[in-house]
Amino acid sequence: MPPPPQPDALADALIRVPRHEFIPSRAWAVPQGAGTPPAAASGYWIDQHRDPDRWWRAVYSDSVIVTQLDGGRTELTPANAAAPSTAPSCAASSPLLVTAGLRHLAVRPGDRVLDVGGGTGWTSGLCAYLAGDDALVTTVEIDPDLARTATENLARCGLHPSVVTGDAATGLPGPDGDSDGLFDRVHVTCGVTDIPYAWVERTRPGGHIVLPYNPPIGRLLRLTVHEDGSATGRFGEECSYMPLRSQGLPQSTNAGTTGADTQPRLRSLDSGPGSDPDTESLLHPAPGLQVLLASLVGDEPWISGSGSVLLTDGVSRATVEDGTRLTQTGPRDLWDEAESVHRAWTRHGRPGLDRIGFTVTPQRQYVWIDDPSVPAAHTLDKSADTAPTTVGASLG
Ligand SMILES: C[S@@+](CC[C@H](N)C(=O)[O-])C[C@H]1O[C@@H](n2cnc3c(N)ncnc32)[C@H](O)[C@@H]1O
Repeated sequence: MPPPPQPDALADALIRVPRHEFIPSRAWAVPQGAGTPPAAASGYWIDQHRDPDRWWRAVYSDSVIVTQLDGGRTELTPANAAAPSTAPSCAASSPLLVTAGLRHLAVRPGDRVLDVGGGTGWTSGLCAYLAGDDALVTTVEIDPDLARTATENLARCGLHPSVVTGDAATGLPGPDGDSDGLFDRVHVTCGVTDIPYAWVERTRPGGHIVLPYNPPIGRLLRLTVHEDGSATGRFGEECSYMPLRSQGLPQSTNAGTTGADTQPRLRSLDSGPGSDPDTESLLHPAPGLQVLLASLVGDEPWISGSGSVLLTDGVSRATVEDGTRLTQTGPRDLWDEAESVHRAWTRHGRPGLDRIGFTVTPQRQYVWIDDPSVPAAHTLDKSADTAPTTVGASLG
C-alpha cells in the first residue's frame, strides 16, 4: 500500500513544477473569475520580452493561457486570438480549476496516472510530482506539435513522463508501457460530453477519473470505478474547457449556430411571480437544475455576447431577450424541453448537487437523482436513438 498523500503535496507540486516553464513567451491570457474587469475579460496579449511584468503577472494569476488556435491552422497573434471566428485549441488551464481537479483526483505516491490532453505538459508534470515518479505518468495528446512541446517543457523541469501522440477517445496506452495495465487515476483536461468507456476500462476498481463534463460550460465530474465495470460519481466546480477534439473541434462561443430550419418560433414568457415554470429560476439555474439542463437539453442557459440568454445543442437554439421574448429555432424546442426539466426538478424537491450524480456503464451513461442505478432521463444509450423526446416525462 503506498503511503497516503501529504496534505501539502499539491502546494509543493505547484512550486516544484512551476507554471512558467510551460507558458510560451508570447500567448493570449484570459482572466477567470467574477472580478475580471470587462475590458480584460475576453483576454489580452502577453509577450515575455516586450513586457515581462505583464507576462509574469498573467502566468501567476488565475488566467487561462491560450497557446494554440484552431488546431494550429491559425497563427497565434493578438488579432487572431481576439477574433470571434477563431477558437482556442490548446491552453494552460486555470490554476484554480487545475488545483480543484487534482484535489478531486487525489493522486497518491505510487499511483499510475493517465493525463488526457497533455497540452503544455503542466498538469502531467504536476501529476508526476504527486505520483512521486515520472515513469508512473502517461500523457496522451492528439496534436504531435503540442506533444513535442509538452515533452520539452517537462524536460526543463527534469520530468520525463511518457508522452504519447494519439486520440485518447479511441486508443489508450497502458501504464509503464504495459498494454494491459490499469491506471489508478485518470485526469482529463478537455471537455467531454460522451465519456469514452475505454477510460473506465483502463482504470482499476477503486480508482478515480476526473474530467470536465459537458463543454463549453460544464462541471468537473469525479467518477469512481467499480468491480462490475461501472463508474459513478458527483459533480464539482463549474468549469469551461475546450472539448475533446474527437467530439467536435472547438467552436468559437461567439459564432452563431445555424438551426436546421429557418422559421423562428416566437412566444412571450411569463416572468412574473408565481409563473409556472418559474422563468427567473430557469434563466439563472441553481447548480442542480443547471446540471440537469446541461445533460438533458444540451447546455444550461448562458448569457450570450449580445446580453440575451441562449440555450443551444449546436443545431437548435432558444434565445430569451429581456427575460420575456423567446425565440426558438431548429428541430427541437429547447426552451420547452428546459421547462419540462424544470417542472420535473421541482417535483423532485429541487435537488442540489448533493443529490445528483452521473453513472457510466459499457452500454450507457446518464445523470441520476438520488439513485445511481436509475437514469434521470436521456440516457446516452449507444444502441438506441438518443433523441431526447421524453425528457420531462422520464424525469417524472
Ligand atoms: C486545455 S488543453 C490541456 C491543458 C493541459 N493539461 C495543460 O496543462 O497544459 C486541452 C488539450 O487536449 C488536447 N486534446 C483534445 N482532444 C484530444 C484527444 N481526443 N486526445 C488527446 N488529446 C486531446 C488538445 O490538443 C489540448 O492540448
